[in-house]
Amino acid sequence: MTQSPPLPPDIAPDAPLLFFDSGVGGLTVLDAARLALPDAPIVYAADFAGLPYGEKTEAEIGARVPALLGRLVERYRPRLITIACNTASTIALPQVRAALDLPVVGTVPAIKPASELSENRVIGVLGTEATVRQPYVTNLAQEFASDATIIRFGAPELVRAAEMKLRGEVPDPAIFDRAVHGLVSQQRALPIDTVVLACTHFPLVQDELAAAFGRPIRFVHGAEGIARRIAYLTRGQAFVGNGLRFVATGPASGIEPYVPALSQRGFSSFDTL
Ligand code: DGL
Repeated sequence: MTQSPPLPPDIAPDAPLLFFDSGVGGLTVLDAARLALPDAPIVYAADFAGLPYGEKTEAEIGARVPALLGRLVERYRPRLITIACNTASTIALPQVRAALDLPVVGTVPAIKPASELSENRVIGVLGTEATVRQPYVTNLAQEFASDATIIRFGAPELVRAAEMKLRGEVPDPAIFDRAVHGLVSQQRALPIDTVVLACTHFPLVQDELAAAFGRPIRFVHGAEGIARRIAYLTRGQAFVGNGLRFVATGPASGIEPYVPALSQRGFSSFDTL
């Protein structure tokens, strides 16, 4: 008879995995994590009152994210936190890890996998304005794609478009054309063949971006890699489900337009922080 490995004594089997983003972008990371860990109880936290992070300063994000996560940890007692936001991760991961005594998984631009796939060695990085200016991105490019040309573009409009889409609204197609133009207008000899979606909101509008490119482009983001990391860090742990809970900063009325899309994804409880 095989036995499952013993549960570490301090982790309650109903302790959730906490996912955090400024808005609904982190759902793209959650989707991948749920495929890997379908029984895990989930709390998804959206900082609607702070959205968009991409237009905030490093100091604002560095103060806001650890403070909010501290409150969420007190309320939900998660076993692990995933910062499902490139902007918050590239800026505030060290502060969060220093402030909290539990595993924290970050989401950083998927430049390494993009570099493994790009044939032209011309890689686009589409993120928020705050993410694309981070030294973290420069360091990833130097470490994993030093022979490639990295073209960055900050596209805050895409964050709004993704949020609109989840509310059941149809974003203006010109938004996607402008984002694509922001990248391709910087191309020189060879065209971009691979685009890193360096904001967790952007996979929600990948089809619209692909249409705006109008030629085959490879899109890469980090969700599957993050899911594997979460599965690794929780290996051997028992999960007793209490479903999917959604919590947001700001008024309850801010959550309402998202409830149909969230219910479809399996969320059954909605709360404010
Ligand atoms: N989803 C976030 C990211 O991955 C940020 C969106 C925003 O708040 O600007 O960067």
